[in-house]
Amino acid sequence: MAIKNVGVIGCGLMGSGIAQVSAQAGFPVLFVEANDELVRRGLGRLRETLEGLAAKGKLDARTKDETLGRIGGTTRLDDLKSCDIVVEAMTENQALKNETFAKLDRICAPPAILATNTSSCNVTALAAATTRPGRVLGLHFFNPVPLMKLVEVARTILTDEAVVQEATEWARAVGKTPVQAKDSTAFIVNRLLVPYLLDAVRAYEGGLASLEDIDTAMKLGCGYPMGPFTLLDLVGLDTTMYVAEVMFEEFREPRYAPPPLLKRMVMAGRLGRKTGRGFYTYDAR
Ligand code: 3HC
Repeated sequence: MAIKNVGVIGCGLMGSGIAQVSAQAGFPVLFVEANDELVRRGLGRLRETLEGLAAKGKLDARTKDETLGRIGGTTRLDDLKSCDIVVEAMTENQALKNETFAKLDRICAPPAILATNTSSCNVTALAAATTRPGRVLGLHFFNPVPLMKLVEVARTILTDEAVVQEATEWARAVGKTPVQAKDSTAFIVNRLLVPYLLDAVRAYEGGLASLEDIDTAMKLGCGYPMGPFTLLDLVGLDTTMYVAEVMFEEFREPRYAPPPLLKRMVMAGRLGRKTGRGFYTYDAR
């Protein structure tokens, strides 16, 4: 395949997962973070994860070392110049992403694919910010990336068919099952998942049942691996609210409007696991 070197922008929850699965699949990966401290933390998180897998016997020591040896971190976007694909996984900010894609377009060789892991930003706007709109598309991974098998390959009306095929093949090469969707806000999964999560908050807010009982009902009644409140805490209440707001803005459907309780939880800083408290409370680990 034409894709050999992988670049990832952002080494947070999603970016580090994308770097991990790429390196485990044998691709040299370079991630970009905003400052040295974040590069150090990103490398530390990846090391800790891979060492944890080795300690559990899921990875032999040599494979762990080789995988870590394939991962580098930098603060300079310019260092991505020899990447064949760059997957952007920064925070959800359309203006910042547009600016980053325009920069990447100047840095990367013309055949490089520029992909975004966005769940709610407009991929067509990113494509339009470059001089290679045919080589821009969405590659939406799911949290936690190493465990979730799906990647949504989102094409805009400008994406070349050959690029969709190349990116789909690369998603398979990093161990994922790709599905294809149009660049339409929230793609497939969030289009269906977000209203479900918002309905769960409304049901709880309306006094239907306790958090625990709603979670248990959806786990045992539908066979979902997690109930909606456990999942909201995993995804992040702020992330869910942001995606819901973008969906509401785009489609003007009341069912996409974030319910009052979700807004207040976000205002209160109860964002889920990442802040130690969302609908449930988590210990320091
Ligand atoms: N790399 C590789 N393996 C890892 C790992 C990593 N980084 N982290 C953990 N693992 C391994 C563990 O070692 C463990 O192995 P073991 O069972 O042999 O010990 C295994 O993975 C499973 O770990 P857990 O016991 O923690 O996992 P569970 O069996 O409880 O499953 C789950 C966890 C996969 C998260 C499952 O609960 C699930 O599928 N939940 C739903 C998640 C979901 O819906 N995500 C999508 C969110 S929406 C989204 O992301 C879109 C966004 O745009 C908003």
